[in-house]
Amino acid sequence: MNSQNYKRQAAEHALKLVEPGMVLGLGTGSTAAEFVKLLGERVKQEKLDLRCVATSEQTRALAEQCGLAIADFNTIADVDLTVDGADEIGPELNLIKGGGGALLREKIVAMASNRVCIIADASKQVDCLGAFPLPVEIADFGRAATLAMIEASAAEAGCYGAIALRQGGNGGLFRTDGGHLIVDCAFGAIPNVELLADLLDIIPGVMEHGLFIDIADEAVLAGPSGLTVLRVDEDAF
Ligand code: A5P
Repeated sequence: MNSQNYKRQAAEHALKLVEPGMVLGLGTGSTAAEFVKLLGERVKQEKLDLRCVATSEQTRALAEQCGLAIADFNTIADVDLTVDGADEIGPELNLIKGGGGALLREKIVAMASNRVCIIADASKQVDCLGAFPLPVEIADFGRAATLAMIEASAAEAGCYGAIALRQGGNGGLFRTDGGHLIVDCAFGAIPNVELLADLLDIIPGVMEHGLFIDIADEAVLAGPSGLTVLRVDEDAF
């Protein structure tokens, strides 16, 4: 079985969490896309009454193609369940996200959600976060100063490595849906994710960073040895 099949398996499992009447957060990336496609099929078959919010314009477009109506997230304060992918899943279900550049919207939707289910192929599980370069979304204005502050904060948290503005496909810089830039930080193993997250949080030009700490409730991992569901707190549901 290839990695796309594993992604679909994890998405199929998460689909069972969907109940009529829910407000659902739809994540971004190739794994979340599997969930969106399956959800579209189920909604058609069962005529499910759901409201969905999208974490990116890419996901909005896919959801609409799949027949899912996307609600205006400016009018919704609470999401029942968000299903999203991740770039790395570490101890205590702390995550690195933002490989697709949607981390700000993903974090806003996840933090508004009662339940966050991460779906992934099993290769995303790691013992220590950081092999995947940490994406940080920054304002365009004063970006040289913001990069210097990120470097200084990272050093304070014991993280060193190349910090680079992400390039877009058109020869220019990559732009997020909100018009911001992404800095990819190749730190390698991050010794203290909480400290790094706290330090990045207080840099004014940082709109958001891709460390998702204490946000995921469960992770569904599919791989050669089958399906594994990891939960932070077994008593939470
Ligand atoms: C999007 O910004 C990311 O946070 C994605 O959730 C993450 O990159 C996982 O993507 P894949 O499912 O494509 O690996």
